[in-house]
Amino acid sequence: MKSPLKILFTASEVVPFAKTGGLADVAGALPKALAKLGHQVVVVMPRYYSIDRSELEPMKEPLGVPMGPMGELWAGVYKGSLPGLNVPIYFIDYEQFFGRSGLYTDESGFSYCDNDVRFVFLSKAALELSKRLEFKPDIVHANDWHSAIQPLLLKSRYAFDETFKETASLLTIHNLQHQGQFFKGIVDVMEVGWEHFNPYELEAMDGVNFLKGGIAHADVVTTVSRKYAHEIQTPPFGFGLDGHICAHRHKLYGVLNGVDYEEWSPSVDPYIAKQYDIDDMSGKVVCKKELQKHFNLPVQEDVPLIGFVGRLVEQKGIGLIAGAIESLMHLDIQIVMLGTGEKWAEGFFSDIANRYPEKFACHIGYSNELAHQIEAGSDLFLMPSLFEPCGLNQIYSLRYGTLPIVRATGGLDDTIHNYDPATKEGNGFKFYDATHEALYHTVKWAIETYRYEPEAYQLMQKRAMEARFDWEKSAEAYEDLYYHALYTKRVQIYK
Ligand code: ADP
Ligand code: GLC
Repeated sequence: MKSPLKILFTASEVVPFAKTGGLADVAGALPKALAKLGHQVVVVMPRYYSIDRSELEPMKEPLGVPMGPMGELWAGVYKGSLPGLNVPIYFIDYEQFFGRSGLYTDESGFSYCDNDVRFVFLSKAALELSKRLEFKPDIVHANDWHSAIQPLLLKSRYAFDETFKETASLLTIHNLQHQGQFFKGIVDVMEVGWEHFNPYELEAMDGVNFLKGGIAHADVVTTVSRKYAHEIQTPPFGFGLDGHICAHRHKLYGVLNGVDYEEWSPSVDPYIAKQYDIDDMSGKVVCKKELQKHFNLPVQEDVPLIGFVGRLVEQKGIGLIAGAIESLMHLDIQIVMLGTGEKWAEGFFSDIANRYPEKFACHIGYSNELAHQIEAGSDLFLMPSLFEPCGLNQIYSLRYGTLPIVRATGGLDDTIHNYDPATKEGNGFKFYDATHEALYHTVKWAIETYRYEPEAYQLMQKRAMEARFDWEKSAEAYEDLYYHALYTKRVQIYK
């Protein structure tokens, strides 16, 4: 075995403690997979209001976090562990920043106006905690804009700190759309020095861009699929940072996310009506029936049922679904949707549900249980994203034998192989153009395959269910990149 590493892993959301999307799934699973490989991982996240402190162990002394002109702020720290394995997770408790109902936005969906300060605080608190624990990390693994400034902090504010003398950094971009762009005054709170406020590091349009600074300073940058790693170097996917990313492409890698099969497997899923697996699919029929009942749809076994679970935001292709919906409603299908997000979409799809109660049903809200039930009870899963760094739901769908219908982008393109009627190969249905016509015709093709080519459909189902996207494999890829980051760091030290 390679020598074990000490890894400080910071994330703004971690399953099962707080989740708005896939980042939480990754942050809850990857540290465990790394620990299984023999590494020592410490996870740090905020103690949001929703996280119950009663089962956590409080740290005796408060933690001082230097915040420039705001002075030193004192945080409480609670310790827990990731379920299943004894990976420690520390919660940074600071009522004024994290004692709110939302993670990043208020109930109306508006970003909190002090998100810059909140996440500078988290980023620094994780480093301060590391010092307090006398945990000298080999690697600081930052995730998304929330902790993206850590690589820069290591090279500035903490450059001469004994704890981090040999620490290398890796930044994972889970979604380039969200970059953490703020008023430049935050530079003082970061305490990194104004010399870093320039177009090659932190500055973007006279403001500060956390992700940009992170990309400039991380020893290794990863994103969550190979295809997305290529896409973000181009203007349509770069969200203004494509040039900056191209300048750093020599240290950019794509590592596909894995799946926690202890949570997402129809053979062990406690939330579904009847468990099933490849050798006995009868449970899936029961799950479909229960799902139809749950959504007050006519219980019809032979009508193809299409599921959608996700944030109702443009990224997920909801505009394409909206554009195609009237035509789709002329087909003999049922669609169930679970999600929250943009107000127009919540209203629009609720309205469609009222108009087509026999064909379309939606649950506007967040429900992990229902997400599992949709995966199990649907025949097909719709994920027509405009861009998708990795996407987890299509991979979950494969395990549940619910064939994905996706747009060929990012992780969707890397994980889903188009059905080929000539060879009967594939594990789903893909389209390329971001148009509602393309979506409509692909859905039509998928349901026709379901109806008229049951053997080919079942073969694909079997193939999909047999495929594995284990975290172990992804963790090994991260392990290699950690060593690579350490090598880069040492070259810098001894230059
Ligand atoms: P993203 O991180 O962009 O939202 P992913 O596909 O990576 O997309 O991950 C989304 C995760 O969030 C999945 O685990 C999915 O089941 C879950 N999810 C999204 N919306 C909901 C919802 N309304 N209710 C329950 N789970 C949801
Ligand atoms: C992001 C992406 C999603 C990815 C997830 C976890 O939220 O939108 O595609 O699966 O992060 O990496």
